[in-house]
Amino acid sequence: MDRSQNIVAAVVLAAGLGKRMRSQKPKVLHEVAGRTMLASVIAQLRAAQVERIILVLGPEFPAAALPPEVETVVQTERLGTGDALRRACPLLKGHEGPVLVLAGDVPLIRPTTLTALAERLSLEGLGITVAGFSTATPFGYGRLLLAPEGQLERIIEEKDATDEQRAITLCNGGAYGFAGRYLDSWLGRLQPNNAQGEYYLTDCIGLARQDGASVRVVECAEAEMLGVNNRLDLARVEALAQQSLREAAMLAGASLRQPETVTLAFDTHLAEDVVVEPFVVFGKGVKVGPGATIRSFSHLEGAVVEEQAVIGPYARLRPGTVVRVGAHVGNFVELKNSELGAGAKVNHLAYIGDATVGDAANIGAGTITCNYDGFGKYRTEIGAGAFIGSNSSLVAPVTIGAGATVGAGSVITAEVPADALAVTRAPLTVRPNWAARKRRLGAA
Ligand code: UD1
Ligand code: MG
Repeated sequence: MDRSQNIVAAVVLAAGLGKRMRSQKPKVLHEVAGRTMLASVIAQLRAAQVERIILVLGPEFPAAALPPEVETVVQTERLGTGDALRRACPLLKGHEGPVLVLAGDVPLIRPTTLTALAERLSLEGLGITVAGFSTATPFGYGRLLLAPEGQLERIIEEKDATDEQRAITLCNGGAYGFAGRYLDSWLGRLQPNNAQGEYYLTDCIGLARQDGASVRVVECAEAEMLGVNNRLDLARVEALAQQSLREAAMLAGASLRQPETVTLAFDTHLAEDVVVEPFVVFGKGVKVGPGATIRSFSHLEGAVVEEQAVIGPYARLRPGTVVRVGAHVGNFVELKNSELGAGAKVNHLAYIGDATVGDAANIGAGTITCNYDGFGKYRTEIGAGAFIGSNSSLVAPVTIGAGATVGAGSVITAEVPADALAVTRAPLTVRPNWAARKRRLGAA
């Protein structure tokens, strides 16, 4: 076999209107575990070493949402899944190897299933492989009609099925392997004579059988084949994705005290001995180092938390935040695009944005970096061991030297040298007995 016969190409069907989502954006751009369904499907294809990926998109698909390194074709009229695949055929001219076809709305499909669809096709010399699953709730899925010896004869859609066929619980998952060289011929012979008046991709199975080609079902778990057609499906798929991410995190050595309350992203990385208290949300791009603790009600996104650091309760780490070894971020503290040095502390009610905080610095309650003047963003540099008194405003761009002290309640607008004291404060006035006198006059 020459190499061209081994190259696997994939076509992702994603041009459907997704009307049942009732949404302004294309269905495949809805997110599961922090990334779009389309990005999930593409990631699984890449994990299965698929070399070419062709997307069939609707004309209104936003160019800005296009994933990198894919080929695209546009299906202008939604004439069905068979027509959608046909739009990709010109790009597949001369392609001899397997063509994986999958729907963009089945985001939990596993790389091993994709590999099995392509490998069985090649190894057994089949015409088509179909990912099938058994379910107690087959409503809405195409049903798989098997011949006695196990060969797949036909797929019948829910809307075209007889009552007897609807009772079948083996369903079409919507992922297929096709022998590339016959694809054109099968797709060219599809007819829209069915309940929906569409060109059904699933009718290729019957055509392949007529041609004497073999078609086999690759059985997989129901959980990975769940298709998203409305927001209820989206929530179910999200719940399954969360469950498997939590299980993987715990098996990798993180303790989730109440796992069902923790939201993870597809790329959350929790090192060994990380403790996550209940009700924590990880957006995408978070890495937490060994032994760190993320306390309840914290929200993290695009942040790195190093070894033994403690975050929260009620902390918010926004993108670009790095919390170094052993640092503490306490309640009602927000960090954005900032580095907090090793052992440094920001324990209460503070906003640190566009800042670098040196090792072992202490940021008092209520400290604010004033990083935005309505036009531009500016940086604040705080040296190692500095002490920022409570309720201070650091007006950026500004530098506080190492070991310096800023007195509570100060507004700092110029550089404070290392080891200096800076304080801006109206003089204190104390008038003995003033309040008592005022009360007496008021009562009189
Ligand atoms: C399809 C299958 C069904 C299977 C189910 C699995 C057909 C006829 N039916 O039904 O057997 O059990 O998937 O989830 O294939 N699309 C286009 N252009 C179109 C129509 C659809 O690109 O003209 C895309 C959609 O964006 C979607 C995918 O194809 O990603 C599947 O379409 P959908 O309408 O969701 O098909 P189902 O009714 O789910
Ligand atoms: Mg669907």
